[in-house]
Amino acid sequence: MTLFRLDGKRALVTGGSRGIGLAAAHDLIRLGARVTLAARHEDTLKTAANAIGAQWVVADVSTPEGVAAAVTKAGDVDILVSNAGGPPPGKPSEVSEAAWQAGYDTTFLSAVRLANAVLPGMRQRQWGRIIAITSLTVGRPAPTLPVSNAMRAAVTNYLKTLALEVAPDGVTCNTVAPGYTATDRLKALHDNPADTDKLIARIPARRFGQPNEVAAAVAFLATVEAAYMTGQELLVDGGWSI
Ligand SMILES: NC(=O)c1ccc[n+]([C@@H]2O[C@H](COP(=O)([O-])OP(=O)(O)OC[C@H]3O[C@@H](n4cnc5c(N)ncnc54)[C@H](OP(=O)(O)O)[C@@H]3O)[C@@H](O)[C@H]2O)c1
Repeated sequence: MTLFRLDGKRALVTGGSRGIGLAAAHDLIRLGARVTLAARHEDTLKTAANAIGAQWVVADVSTPEGVAAAVTKAGDVDILVSNAGGPPPGKPSEVSEAAWQAGYDTTFLSAVRLANAVLPGMRQRQWGRIIAITSLTVGRPAPTLPVSNAMRAAVTNYLKTLALEVAPDGVTCNTVAPGYTATDRLKALHDNPADTDKLIARIPARRFGQPNEVAAAVAFLATVEAAYMTGQELLVDGGWSI
């Protein structure tokens, strides 16, 4: 028996044009899946999709229209990787209502809408993998990322609850929680070399993670072999949360 193949499966990866989403999409393609990438900016998206042999669709998944466009382009989605955004930093007491709403739409509601859109087909086929990228901040809230802390926790418990409902249908729901991972988002949040050194010193592995290291966890959860694993949070954080 060949292990860990995804031939014949279709995957949709949102936030797939760079960083963790792109690395996850690349791994799914290597395992044989047909993958559609969704993101907002066409240039980066098209280049990324062509580089790994994926389909692409310009879609802002913070809106119902964007979710519909992404799912329509992807076709019968067997594997959903919900990964968009990354709310901006701020002081918890100073986050505006607009920023809370934007975080809710982009990080939480997108995961719910995407899952609702792909679930009927997954149930019909009695096979599905719903995976959301969250963050190490679910277990240990980062002082300056209030919106991310709250929305990732909401996604985590939403998917655990959904997992209970859809387990009899052969659909699993899990989250992958990255630690500090070397992507554009990390560069934007930590651009000061002195701060970066301090941060790395606190990570047991003494380095940032690489997108492909998070992608490997996503790919595993997508496989046939991971069928009995549902409602789980898989941390990929170099030991930060120990
Ligand atoms: N890197 C880390 O250290 C780290 C740690 C913990 C958690 N995370 C989380 O992991 C996820 C991926 O992080 P990353 O570091 O890979 O981020 P990234 O490099 O900034 O990439 C973000 C991706 O999401 C897309 N995107 C953003 N908003 C979108 C929207 N509304 N609709 C559709 N696509 C959208 C971006 O493309 P467009 O801009 O073209 O839309 C891009 O493809 C994020 O949710 C992040 O918060 C990251």
